[in-house]
Order: sequence, then C-alpha cells, then structure tokens
Amino acid sequence: MIQTIIHDASEIIVGPDENGLDRLENGAVAVAGGTIAAVGPTEAVTEEYPPENAKRVIDASGRTVIPGFVDSHTHALFAGDRSDEFEAKLRGASYQEILEEGGGILRTVGATRNASEDELLARLLEYLDVMAAHGTTTVEVKSGYGLDTETELRMLSVIDRADEEHPIDVVPTYMGAHAVPEGRAEDDYVEEVVTEQLPAVERQDVAEFCDVFCEEGVFSVEQSRRVLTAGKEHGLTPKVHAEEFVRLGGAQLAADLGAASADHLLHAETADINALGAAGVTPVLLPGTAFSLGAEYADAGAFTDQGVSVALASDFNPNCHSPSMGFAVALGCLGMEMTPAQALVAGTHGGARALDRADTGLGTVEPGAPADLCVVDAPTHVHIPYTFGVNLVDTVLKDGEVVTDDR
Ligand code: NIG
Ligand code: FE
Repeated sequence: MIQTIIHDASEIIVGPDENGLDRLENGAVAVAGGTIAAVGPTEAVTEEYPPENAKRVIDASGRTVIPGFVDSHTHALFAGDRSDEFEAKLRGASYQEILEEGGGILRTVGATRNASEDELLARLLEYLDVMAAHGTTTVEVKSGYGLDTETELRMLSVIDRADEEHPIDVVPTYMGAHAVPEGRAEDDYVEEVVTEQLPAVERQDVAEFCDVFCEEGVFSVEQSRRVLTAGKEHGLTPKVHAEEFVRLGGAQLAADLGAASADHLLHAETADINALGAAGVTPVLLPGTAFSLGAEYADAGAFTDQGVSVALASDFNPNCHSPSMGFAVALGCLGMEMTPAQALVAGTHGGARALDRADTGLGTVEPGAPADLCVVDAPTHVHIPYTFGVNLVDTVLKDGEVVTDDR
C-alpha cells in the first residue's frame, strides 16, 4: 500500500550533491512503509505509484518539499523562566556576568531540580509540538540542568518518554558536565561525573551521546577529556561544546576522541577546522546563540574553504529561546553568509551527520530514506531564509504520517 503521494511540488530538495544541492522542479514523492519509495518528475512517479492507490494525496502545487529539519543541538528540557535575563542582557549584562550573579545555567538547574518528571515531560512535549510545527522531525535534547545523579537520570528519563510519546524522534544526550554545581570544586565534580553519574547513566540505558562544556571557567580540556573518555567506556559517543567564548582546544579534543560533533566553534581557527575535517567530526554551528548573545558569528566560510561541511542547529535553551530551524537557516544566511542551499543542507543532512544518522538517509529525500518531510508554502527553498521570522512550513510528515497540517 502506498502511504502518501506528494505531487506537483514546484521544487523538491532531495539532498546534497557534488554541486551543493540536488533539487528537482515539478516533482513528486511516493512514500510506503514510512520510507521514501520514489522521488522524481511528477509524471514518472505518479505513473509508477498511481495516486488513486495512495492513502493520502497531497497536491504541492506552488509549494516546496524539503527533508524535515534535524536539530542536532538543543537544551530543550528545562524548568523555570529566564526572560528577565533577556532584559538584563539588553541593558548590557554579559552571559558571564549573569552567570556570576547566580543566573544562567545554575538558575535553570535550581528550577529543574525542583520540577517533577511529569511537569518536565509536559513542558518538553509542548516544545516538541512547536518544533514539529516549524518542520523539525528529529531533535537532540541534552540533560545538564540537574548536575546531580538523581536529576540527570530524571531528565534522561523524560527525554526517553518524550521520544515514545511524541511523533518527533528525540535523541538523548547526557551532559552532566554542563556546569560546575554551586559550591563544588571542578575536579571534585568531574570525579562525581566519572565515578557516580556515568555508571548510573549506563545502567539506565537511555543516553546515546555524552557532551561537555569545554570552556574557560567551566571544564578544561583535560577535565573534558576525562569525562568524554569515561563516557566512551560507558557506551556514549562524545560531543563537545568547543571554542564558544575562547579558543581552548575543545575542537582538537573532539578530533582526538573521534567525537560525533564539535559545537559552537565561534573562535575556531583553520587548524581546528582541518583537525575536525580529518577526523570526520561534524562541526555544528549555532547562529541563534551568537545572535542572542550579540556575539560575532562563527566563520562558516572558513569551513567551506577547507572543504568541511557543517551542520546548523537551533541550540534552543533558556538563553537562546528560539526552537525554529527556519530561523537558524535564515541566520546562517544573513549572519554567516551561507547560501540558502548550504544552510538548508546543514540544517537537514548536516544535522543527521552530527547525530550519526546520515547512513539511513535521514535529512534527505532520497529513496530509502525515512519519510520525514515538510511541505513549505513557497515556490523555492530560498524563501525559507528570505521570509525570515515567518514559519512557512505547512504540512509535516514523520515516517510518512502527517504530524502537523496547515500552519
Ligand atoms: O549551548 N554553552 C553552554 N550551554 C548552552 C547555554 C545553556 C544556558 O544558558 O542555559 C549553550 O549555549
Ligand atoms: Fe549547548
């Protein structure tokens, strides 16, 4: 049985190719069994897969079909409200100053420790609805607002339940080393992460990745190495928050450890970029963070110059409060001089690479790939960044089934 036919799309973004972007005009997609059965010119596809035999038919005339966004970096699970820090930032306070005054991550930690599993789940499910409506079909969510074994495990349990209850795929990352808890010495806390939290995380058997905030004043390269190496021993693939505020060496560490990704990279230099490229580590750029911090953007062009393709993600968190991948794509273009095609590939196929899922075809509209698709109310993909601030995503399919319809 054919599950869905989408026909007469003015443009279909199939995925990356040697020229940058494999796109098709007046195309159709046939979906069967949750995966893409065929993609091609409408006439050819509908001849092989007659729409009358399909459970659902979508006329995409005048609209564009793209792969669902793969948002590979979020801290979307948290309690509390930090909108007052937004105002403080506008008055000139820096991220670090806010942190020193008891705001920032540690404030969210306090609120999250006090929230029940059900409260946290309800909140995450609401955010996932918003993400889905904006075209995200796979999202990574990190723990890291617990900073103690009990709350870190609770966060991972909520992420796991959200994955089960929500049509979006939710990918769990353990990030016990997101900050140093109040009143603790760094090394002492790293010891707890390695000897207490990580073994408990392995027993719970939910997390897939282990991330660490490798940053001046947070965790040093050596402390980060210790956490990620132990994480690997417990079955977790490394990820690194690297070179965000200063160039400390997190990118090189990610390369040494064969991490899935190195993220932020605002201060990465050519040697870092080449190390990541040589080690096959996906650089994840987060323009929303730079935008919300008023910081300088990562140099996306420097990665392209070295032939290293990047991913784009939202970094949705209480400090960067937009879960929209369309907005990240727009900032990729307007803030980092990416082309719309590069930015779109980075937010789909790039995200799949950062989550070690590209081999399934995730993030493309190629035959055999999961049928995670967005029908966008615009004649070409260029309109996604061009119409910044507006959600043009009409219909979202996850595994071939409609999750949201008509904005
Ligand atoms: O990726 N850089 C560290 N962590 C987050 C911020 C989290 C927060 O402020 O709550 C980030 O930007
Ligand atoms: Fe982050």
